[in-house]
Amino acid sequence: MDYAVEAEGITKVYKNKVALYDFSLKIKKGQIFGLLGPNGAGKSTFIRILSGLEKADSGTLKMMGTKAGSQTRKKIGVAPQDDSVYPLLTCRENLKYFGSLYGVRGKKAEETALSLLEQLGLGEKKDVQAGFLSGGMRKRLNLACALMHSPQIIILDEPTTGLDPATRIKMWDTVRTIVKETNATLLLTTHYMEEAEALCQQIAFVNAGQNVALGTPDELKGKIGREILKITTIPGGPDKLIQILGKLKGIESVKPADHGVVVDGGSIASRLPEISKHLEKHGQTVVEMSLSRPSLEDVFLTITGSKLREVGTIGPDK
Ligand SMILES: Nc1ncnc2c1ncn2[C@@H]1O[C@H](COP(=O)(O)OP(=O)(O)OP(=O)(O)O)[C@@H](O)[C@H]1O
Ligand SMILES: [Mg+2]
Repeated sequence: MDYAVEAEGITKVYKNKVALYDFSLKIKKGQIFGLLGPNGAGKSTFIRILSGLEKADSGTLKMMGTKAGSQTRKKIGVAPQDDSVYPLLTCRENLKYFGSLYGVRGKKAEETALSLLEQLGLGEKKDVQAGFLSGGMRKRLNLACALMHSPQIIILDEPTTGLDPATRIKMWDTVRTIVKETNATLLLTTHYMEEAEALCQQIAFVNAGQNVALGTPDELKGKIGREILKITTIPGGPDKLIQILGKLKGIESVKPADHGVVVDGGSIASRLPEISKHLEKHGQTVVEMSLSRPSLEDVFLTITGSKLREVGTIGPDK
């Protein structure tokens, strides 16, 4: 049983809108997995189906090796896109309430609530009503609510939307720590490519209700091209550099550029120190090395013909 989530051929139709169409996805246990896609792609629909709030029209779904149902629901903790916290309850009361839904009560609930509030930087706000928190604080409380029963699968629908950049990065650290400490599997959705890159081991691109690409961030970027490395050296000279670098194993092409050369050779990022050393050995001092890589946004655009933040223009919508 290696997979935390196994979804096969999921289709969900609302009235005359196909939200998910033959959607399949497998998430390995212990992984941080990201769903990326434009507004209306079907990400939250998939999450609602995982959490049991919606029923798929067809397809099969297993979680931790068991067919999805009341048993699997206890194993997952969901922080929905629209925060589910109760504004009139304090942070502590919110957490205890969500814990009680999963049978976490009494002393255990009190301890877990206080420890989560500390971990998420809300210790000082424990007795403040959720309605009086800032947007970013409410997002963190929403996350804490999903964690009260130590779920094996944590599902976060846009956990950092609306957070300021510094808080977002703190949130990444917190999420990483929680996953590590609890050995949980994490599924998150996001519109931020840098977030997906920083956090996720696997990413699925969702567009118009379908899973259109899957891979590690590097694999996805590898789909549309390679890294290009620009090098400028002293004393330099394109001919000399072509001669020196052309002999290096794994370098596919070295072409003259403005003040140096452009090198192409697959995954070149990891070889920067080696290339630099090789140049020094041949009497060239590196003045500049700049690596350009295709972004996830470029990949998404190439695959779907639409931008990540636009509504998908192909597929079941038409
Ligand atoms: N309860 C519903 N009734 C009717 N249509 C719905 C319902 N829920 C979702 N949809 C439609 O299904 C499609 C997918 O919506 P979903 O919320 O899953 O998108 P999303 O990928 O989460 O988008 P976002 O990035 O904006 O959160 C949209 O066209 C949406 O309007
Ligand atoms: Mg959504």
